[in-house]
This record gives sequence, C-alpha cells and structure tokens, in this order.
Amino acid sequence: MVEPRVTEALGKPIVGPLDPYFFEVADATRELLRLVFGTRNETTLVIPGTGSSGMETAVANFVEPDSKFAVFANGYFCDRLSEMGARQGARVVRLEKPWGEVFAYEEAAEFVRREKPAVVAFVHAETSTGALQDIRAITKAAREVDALAIADTVTSLGALQVGVDEAGIDIAYSCSQKGLSAPPGLSPFTASPRAMERLKTRKTPMHHWYLDLKLLRDYYDGRKYHHTVSTPLFYALHESLRLIQEEGLQNRFDRHLRNHLALVRGLETLGLEMHVAEGHRIPNVNTPRVPGGVEDVKVRKRLLEKHGIEIAGGFGPLAGKIFRIGLMGPLANESSVSLFLDAFRDAIRN
Ligand SMILES: Cc1ncc(COP(=O)(O)O)c(C=O)c1O
Repeated sequence: MVEPRVTEALGKPIVGPLDPYFFEVADATRELLRLVFGTRNETTLVIPGTGSSGMETAVANFVEPDSKFAVFANGYFCDRLSEMGARQGARVVRLEKPWGEVFAYEEAAEFVRREKPAVVAFVHAETSTGALQDIRAITKAAREVDALAIADTVTSLGALQVGVDEAGIDIAYSCSQKGLSAPPGLSPFTASPRAMERLKTRKTPMHHWYLDLKLLRDYYDGRKYHHTVSTPLFYALHESLRLIQEEGLQNRFDRHLRNHLALVRGLETLGLEMHVAEGHRIPNVNTPRVPGGVEDVKVRKRLLEKHGIEIAGGFGPLAGKIFRIGLMGPLANESSVSLFLDAFRDAIRN
C-alpha cells in the first residue's frame, strides 16, 4: 500500500533522463536514501529495476568469475543469490540452515575461516520465512577474512534499522515497494568506499552493461546519458522517502515493532504459534504456523474473497506450513491489526 501523496507524485510532469529537474529529484532521493540506509557512501543510487536488479548489480559487480562466493542459506532469496553467483561463474559455497533459523557469529566465523571467500552474502530479512538475521554476526566474520559483505535489505529497508556504516555492510540493495512503500520498479543501492576500491582492482571484465556501477555513477554524478529513467517512479520514491523523513526513522521503526507485537499477541490468543523464535522475527513479515486441521489455501481464499485482505502462504519447504502476513508502511497501525485479526479469526474458523 502507498500513501496518497506517493500516488499523487506519479502524476508530476515527465521529463527526460538528462533534465536538470530530474537530477534535482535524483540528488534529493539519493540523500534521503543515505539517511534510511544509515550511510555516508557516495555510491548510493537507484538501480532501474525491482529488488532483483539490485541483487544482480551487487553480484555482477563484486563477485568475479572463479572467485569464492559464500552464501548464508536459510531461505528462498539466499537461493536466488547463490544462483546469480553461479551464473557469474563464481565458486559458490553455502552454509545451510533450516528455513526460519538464523546464523550466530561463531558459526559464521568458523565457515568463513574455513572457506576464505572473496565475498559473502546474506539476507537481512528473509521474506520467505519471517527470520531476521543479526547483521553484525556476519559482517564481523567477513571482515576477519577481508571478504566484502553483501546484505539483501529488500524487506527491511524503511521498516527497521539497517545501519549500513555502523554494521559494517559493504554493499546493500533494496526495493521500492516494501518498507519504503512506493510503487515497485526501483532498487535503492549502496556500496562502501572499500567495495568501490575493490571494484577498481577487478581482474575480469564486467559482463553486464546495464548494471555496471561505474557507468551508473557516470550517469548519476557525471550527468552522462546511460538509460531512460522512469521519472514517475523516481518522483514516487522521493515522496515516500520524504514521508519517512517527516515521520522520523526511529518513530517508524517503533511503529512497525509495536504493531508487530500486537499482531503476534493476537495470533497467539487465537492459538497460533509463530514459526520463528522470539527475538529473530521480522516485524513487517509475520509468519505464524498453519494450525493442524486448517487448510492454508482455504483460509487465504476466504480472507481475500470475504474480507478483501491478501496474505501469502509459505513455499519451498514451508509450503502449506506457514502464513506470511505483511504489516508495513501505512498498513502498520492499530486499526489494520485489529481489522486483520477479526477477519483472520473468521477465516480460520470457517
Ligand atoms: C528478501 C528479498 N530479496 C529479493 C527480492 C526480490 O525483489 P523483487 O521481487 O522486487 O525483484 C525479494 C522479493 O520479495 C525479497 O523479499
């Protein structure tokens, strides 16, 4: 869901990719993204595509063919990262965990000391499971072997603390449609000076043209034509970031957490158990287990058809086992939680 101000922003005049007004909006958007990412990285920009384009930009630029790429694998999107690494011709090594569990520093450190990868990647908030990874557990381990750390913040950015600089993340990407609550189609991206230095010493040519960070920097900073940007999407993202700034980052994180806790309390009162252990849950993607004797497809169909509420089911090893309930942006409020719980009570009992 997006705020009316964001929808209105889509209707602003469309200008060309080199128009001074576009760069005014782009510069302001990049500065607001630095605030939300928690970074001073100069290379903070927007990749023209959905969250997966940010993921591919991270992998294509920083994971070289024949280099070792370590993926912390505990869900669907970690598999996508592995697949992209393999397609780059990297030697992909994985530390596996059941879907819904997270990695502690000791196990991350033991893995990277053994494998000595050039780059590691993990998903901060794994949308397929509802599990929230402690960022420092991985970045600290990665630093010990001088590996770059890529963080997928597609679901977390704008809804909960990422803190790129403080947490020691080298490369992070996100999407416009989740925690930032703008339309889909853009991927906020940031890379540290350390990562950009590493890019300068890349031994093999970059195979991708569209996602080449150096060319993208030439566009955003050098004002040199690269591609024809979708200005309406930029206007909408800029407006959604302005709304976040007006609310205040900490207020926004607190609001998501408060409503997540209320939702969990309500779900537990209805007799459901959460799939992810307390303390490791994503506030904006809630994953209760499907209770015995309840058919998840039937519940979701009734919710949609009778109450107009769409929630997702589990997939892969969690197919039919969990519900995935998004609670983010403008929807993370008390009345949505109580409206949802009433409808959900009806759907699981009928
Ligand atoms: C954690 C995570 N990473 C990556 C993606 C891919 O993003 P997109 O669908 O915007 O390409 C998603 C999408 O839901 C996601 O949840």
